[in-house]
Amino acid sequence: MPATQPPPQPVPRHVAIIMDGNGRWASERGLPRQAGHRQGVEALRRAIRTSADLGIEYLTVYSFSSENWSRPKPEIAFLLDLLRRFIRTDVAQLHEAGVKITVIGERAGLEPGLVKLLEDAEQLTRDNKALNLVVAFNYGSRNEIARAAQALARKVAEGKIAPEDVTAAVVSNHLDTAGMPDPDLLIRTGGEQRISNYLLWQCAYTEFVFVPEYWPDFSADILKRAIAEFHCRDRRFGGLSVQRA
Ligand code: IPE
Ligand code: IPE
Ligand code: MG
Repeated sequence: MPATQPPPQPVPRHVAIIMDGNGRWASERGLPRQAGHRQGVEALRRAIRTSADLGIEYLTVYSFSSENWSRPKPEIAFLLDLLRRFIRTDVAQLHEAGVKITVIGERAGLEPGLVKLLEDAEQLTRDNKALNLVVAFNYGSRNEIARAAQALARKVAEGKIAPEDVTAAVVSNHLDTAGMPDPDLLIRTGGEQRISNYLLWQCAYTEFVFVPEYWPDFSADILKRAIAEFHCRDRRFGGLSVQRA
């Protein structure tokens, strides 16, 4: 008789990634940082493909933070250009694969041509169901929460809602991630163990996995190992674990 297989573990519904370590990957090879960013796009393609194959519903990737504007101008220009190219070259294929693209982060102040490109990608893919790819671009949690607070303050000032109507659920619904489930698993590559202003509100009960590999080396195997680690965690959400309840 064949050995009884344990029931398959469900994959996390929402995986968020801090794609870090492009610059160090390049420096260790004596290459310019740009080479690391370019390889980082290949790693992103792998992450999208594997996430879709595994049946992950939401993949949220940190592509450019509100603090990344403090980098040298040529590096910023390169990163913006890389995003433009990625959208232009990959959107048709992502659409065909049923990927829905959503961009979170502040749009005010961005170059109008870039905003239009992002909006067109969102519009084209809005009804897709295979995988939700959420791109955090010009994104910072404090900025996101401040914008939500402004929107809510405006509604209160206009008499549309009362101050006591501002519950945690209402705040969630005014964030860029409104309507999305919170991340179950957050993976940061590159070895740093910090959150760098990413999804602060949404990660209240997210499990964090920090991996030493630089982002350009990200693989299906690393994602699967992070998910295996996630399965070993006992998520209690402030309650008691099932065994102890
Ligand atoms: C991540 O890699 C990409 C972005 C932040 C845009 P880095 O560019 O931060 O690479 P390291 O951390 O300097 O190695
Ligand atoms: C976080 O990486 C932002 C992105 C991956 C886009 P950083 O490299 O900017 O983070 P710090 O500066 O090390 O905290
Ligand atoms: Mg970094």
